[in-house]
Amino acid sequence: MEKTLVILKPSCLQRGLVGEVTKRFERKGLRLAGMKMCQLTDEQMSEHYAHLADKPFFQQLKDSMMITPVVVCCYEGVGAVEVVRQMTGATCGRKAAPGTIRGDFSMSFQENIIHTSDSLENAAVELKRFFKDGEIFDYTLPTQQFLYAADEV
Ligand code: PPS
Repeated sequence: MEKTLVILKPSCLQRGLVGEVTKRFERKGLRLAGMKMCQLTDEQMSEHYAHLADKPFFQQLKDSMMITPVVVCCYEGVGAVEVVRQMTGATCGRKAAPGTIRGDFSMSFQENIIHTSDSLENAAVELKRFFKDGEIFDYTLPTQQFLYAADEV
């Protein structure tokens, strides 16, 4: 099964949306494989947003991710990367479709509530960036047989 990274950004914590957001992933049927609160560093953010280093908002974006602690989460499921991206919605909250997390809770490009990995390849790199060995757990949900048919997993 796929694993993907979700970062509950400072905007999620400050706006009191941690429960709302995690409830959506939980109710969808994604398995929570890892979760921790941490203070991100400039070094981590420079690496994480390296593809945006030439953008005028680069420093502002990094600062916004370090203004309070965040919660990093690892979710697992069949096709989890795409499922989580669809639930997240378009980058800018003003453009994100209603029903998505950003579409329902954000009015902003930057203060867009969560970060989610955009490909399986990036998910692996990003999970390694934010989780140490032993912080992601493999356990079986007792509801597994009601989440998927046997030939789907
Ligand atoms: S995405 O969803 O990663 O494909 O989106 P992308 O357009 O590549 O944006 C990547 C992150 O950059 C942030 N962003 C901005 N911040 C401030 N101002 C502006 N104009 C802006 N545009 C994009 C956006 O919040 C994305 O952060 P993440 O953590 O990936 O959601």
